Amino acid sequence: MGKSYRIAVIPGDGTGPEVAREAVKVLDAAAAAHGFTLAFETFDYGGDRYLRTGEVLPESAADEMRAFDAILLGAIGHPDVKPGILEKGILLRLRFELDQYINLRPVKLFPGVETPLKDKGPEEIDYDVVRENTGDLYTGTGGVTMRGTPHEVAVQSAVYTRFQVDRCLRYAFELARRRNRRKTVALCGKTNVLTYLYDLWERAFHEMGERDYPEIRRDYYHVDATCMWMVKNPEWFDVIVTGNMFGDIITDLGAITQGGMGIAAGGNINPEGVSMFEPIGGSAPKYTGKNVINPLAAICAGAMLLRHLGEEAAADAVERSVAAATATKIKSLAAGRMGHSTTEVGDLIAEGIGG
Ligand code: IPM
Ligand code: MN
Repeated sequence: MGKSYRIAVIPGDGTGPEVAREAVKVLDAAAAAHGFTLAFETFDYGGDRYLRTGEVLPESAADEMRAFDAILLGAIGHPDVKPGILEKGILLRLRFELDQYINLRPVKLFPGVETPLKDKGPEEIDYDVVRENTGDLYTGTGGVTMRGTPHEVAVQSAVYTRFQVDRCLRYAFELARRRNRRKTVALCGKTNVLTYLYDLWERAFHEMGERDYPEIRRDYYHVDATCMWMVKNPEWFDVIVTGNMFGDIITDLGAITQGGMGIAAGGNINPEGVSMFEPIGGSAPKYTGKNVINPLAAICAGAMLLRHLGEEAAADAVERSVAAATATKIKSLAAGRMGHSTTEVGDLIAEGIGG
């Protein structure tokens, strides 16, 4: 008998439950084919629960999550809840409380998927963005005075400690080693303007690289230039490492180059704790309940989850099945235009996982 893992599922809002269901279906198929079992437990965190109970997340949530081997998240965001409440109260709170200090976002073009980048294919678009996930403008450091007056002052500071920067850089260098492709880490910063913040990153980057990863090449790009090169020369990249805010922005750019939110997945990773995997798109309220939303992003998040558990062969099998489907069977990644329903796409991927 193989191993057994406990997985918490937070289906969340909108189309979250529909895509999470397909991801669970595929994970079960992968587990069956690769000799391990998954025990899923579902949590109802999200907009509906908040509207019903007035509570965004129970106090005990993070502690409960710690008992699991990993978390799978569908989507957070509800049309009847003011923007920010659920995002901050659920997604960001879990990231912080579980100290998921890495946000790993693969930018990978699957075969047959249309990219807006001219003359670029799966060979050229295949890199990982390592976004720091606990610091920067996301810490809430700052405040407001004289609110609502013409003299209102608003301050929100980007904060990084050497410790946060070092542990993030360590992950990025180790990832470049594991990927074993171009053996390159590119730091994305803004050293010409953020002369304290990215000076810290740049010094830490070169110190660690020179000392511990001499075989890994180090590049540096300002964030604005990074955006240009991600479009013009994505093949330059292997691993990009950056702070939380720039990482948020450039990974949406990356996602659109790999075919958009229908396929882009991410992992909120605590290498020493419990990690949470999610499709990076939103809850898509207008497609809710129609069985037309694309579940591939959630399924790819599931593949990342398997890889994180150490079930590499199962993760590879899921990705191969996704690649086979995008290459031949799925017409478009857009909701309603896939040529299949949400559940059919889940079936296709599950069936494509050989025993
Ligand atoms: C993301 C999202 C979140 C973020 C929002 C919903 C808080 O945009 O995961 O990229 O800014 O991190
Ligand atoms: Mn984002």
